[in-house]
Amino acid sequence: MSTSLSNVLKRLGILFAVAIVLLGITMLFTYDVIKIRWVSFMAISPAMQPMEHPLPVPSQSIPIEGPAYIPNMGAPKNPVPADQASIARGAELFHINCTACHGADAKGDGPVAPFLQTKKPADLTSPAVQFLSDGAIFMVVSNGFGMMPPLNENLTVRERWDVVNFIRTLSNSPSTTAAPTASSTSPSPTPTVSGTSAAPTSSSQTEPEATEEAARPSNPGGPGDAINLRGDASSGTQIFAANCVPCHNTEGKGGIPNPGSSDGTFPPLNPIDPTIKNSDPKTFAYNLDLFIQHGSTPESLPGAAPTSMPAWGDKNALTQQQIADVIAYIISLNP
Ligand code: HEC
Ligand code: HEC
Repeated sequence: MSTSLSNVLKRLGILFAVAIVLLGITMLFTYDVIKIRWVSFMAISPAMQPMEHPLPVPSQSIPIEGPAYIPNMGAPKNPVPADQASIARGAELFHINCTACHGADAKGDGPVAPFLQTKKPADLTSPAVQFLSDGAIFMVVSNGFGMMPPLNENLTVRERWDVVNFIRTLSNSPSTTAAPTASSTSPSPTPTVSGTSAAPTSSSQTEPEATEEAARPSNPGGPGDAINLRGDASSGTQIFAANCVPCHNTEGKGGIPNPGSSDGTFPPLNPIDPTIKNSDPKTFAYNLDLFIQHGSTPESLPGAAPTSMPAWGDKNALTQQQIADVIAYIISLNP
């Protein structure tokens, strides 16, 4: 009896000792006395960081909110009316998603801006951005642009249009509305002295004035409908590549010979003749439009016949919308 009991105790003791040893060995790993690089550590797993390589939409698929836009068909039209509800929602979404970089006043001076070295966030109140079509801004938010990340995962399609409608309201800021009056009054200080001539004010409303003798085409004619349309610079890029590059070079850099012209080359559009460029996007578009609608023959050497600028509008070689798009593109080349 006593021997069997001591046998049982002995066995229990052995079991206990084995358990202790096993526990001790696991403790060595638990407290990293012996280190093993397990492959399942979170830090080395292929995790998706915020704003890093957002997943592209799978081809042939339509999101449940409906298609955001059709690829290769240019910028989409804004389907959301800019009513008070949309603008209010857009303002709130802007403050959540955009102010970190673009700043509360949208001038591009958010708290993150100082850390962006290569390219600063755009001033969304500037003419360069306000001249973009609604669809172009929508595409920037959806797909990103340069240093700007795509935000299609942060905002639904409807929310993106709300933000676009809000950004449109920023065009009434003093920086853009002040430009036309400032440029039309500053070059002509005489009206204040000779108050008799009241004509300049009425004429400056109907047609932008040729302030500092802007370059004009040799062919006559007024502006086309293009200047009243909203141009889309991204589709303008393609129109430019297909029609204008042979003479004006890629991105309008110029330098291509035009034998017989007094300049010797076709003019660069990037940078463009400074008298054509204008801080007011409407005047800038007007100056470009006259050349593109009616064409122009450059000054020539005696007896020579240089190549002329074709009359894209008058010949219906481009639609008015296409001219508006290419104008938006040329303006984007000359910030
Ligand atoms: C992480 C910073 C960041 C955030 C967040 C951000 N942007 Fe931008 N955005 C930029 C930068 C940088 C640029 C300039 C890009 C360039 O020129 O390469 C830019 C440019 C733009 C442009 C001008 C594009 C053009 O063609 O000139 C628009 C419009 C714009 N952002 C809208 C928005 C909107 C709307 C939001 C919020 C939904 C937003 N951005 C959020 C950094 C940001
Ligand atoms: C066959 C050659 C040719 C093609 C193609 C052409 N241009 Fe021109 N373009 C010219 C010439 C030549 C001038 C200079 C006219 C002058 O000085 O009177 C010019 C001038 C201009 C100007 C005025 C710039 C300046 O400095 O005087 C603009 C704007 C312009 N072209 C836009 C365009 C656009 C946009 C397209 C494409 C839709 C285009 N051009 C296609 C030959 C061409």
